[in-house]
Amino acid sequence: MQIFNSPTRYGAVAQSLHWLVVVLVILAWVLGVSDDLLPKGPAQAAGLYTHITAGLLVIVLTFARLLWRTVDPSPPAESTEFGDWSFAGWMGLGAKLAHVGLYVLLVAAPLVGIAVQFARGRGLPVFGLFEIASPWSADRAFARDLKGIHELLSHGLLALAALHAAAALVHHWVFGDRTLTRMLPGSDTDR
Ligand code: HEM
Ligand code: HEM
Repeated sequence: MQIFNSPTRYGAVAQSLHWLVVVLVILAWVLGVSDDLLPKGPAQAAGLYTHITAGLLVIVLTFARLLWRTVDPSPPAESTEFGDWSFAGWMGLGAKLAHVGLYVLLVAAPLVGIAVQFARGRGLPVFGLFEIASPWSADRAFARDLKGIHELLSHGLLALAALHAAAALVHHWVFGDRTLTRMLPGSDTDR
């Protein structure tokens, strides 16, 4: 399998970054929504710590991806035609807009998460290596508002990702093109 993207397929780096971020976003989201289900005390603290670590990795890997994209551009959309529909047209534009929206939310949701932590007056643990002290003193009302925004952005990210995944499956099962397989490792050869 090639390291770089080709005109018809994503390479190993773009694929690894894509699927790693998928796993981390789902992990962060599940831990975020199940926070209240964990017993208060060490279990809840460990859940939040893992949630924060996964979220920080999402930001780091998303910047790595955006940087990688500048040296290794994504392949153009498959040139599928389905009746009167063509991916050169509005559907291709829809996919591009969805990707931009996903990148924006991949950065914005965790950033507002960091702001929630700081608004609670708590430091930010960075991969167990060090902690960034909160620049703010605790403000419960502000923290609650930010948590609402963090939740909204996170749910928005998951909803857009679900739509995006559904579109990939429609490409695969309905249009029968290579949109999905070219983001999967080793499932077909480059052509
Ligand atoms: C893609 C990454 C992330 C996703 C999908 C995500 C998702 C969520 C969700 C769904 C909640 C639950 C909100 C609720 O129902 O009350 C939550 C809570 C929270 N998140 Fe995140 N989050 C992410 C990253 C982060 C990061 C990087 C931080 C950094 C500090 C963070 C800090 C928090 C905090 C402090 C809470 C409140 C938890 C509590 O109630 O004690 N999140 N997050
Ligand atoms: C949290 C979940 C997900 C996020 C945040 C996400 C994000 C992204 C982003 C930002 C891109 C654009 C890559 C580029 O710069 O070219 C992309 C491409 C892609 N994703 Fe996802 N994705 C998610 C889940 C999924 C799932 C579950 C599937 C499959 C069912 C999938 C299939 C694809 C495919 C096939 C492409 C390539 C599209 C094309 O060739 O135009 N993604 N994804």
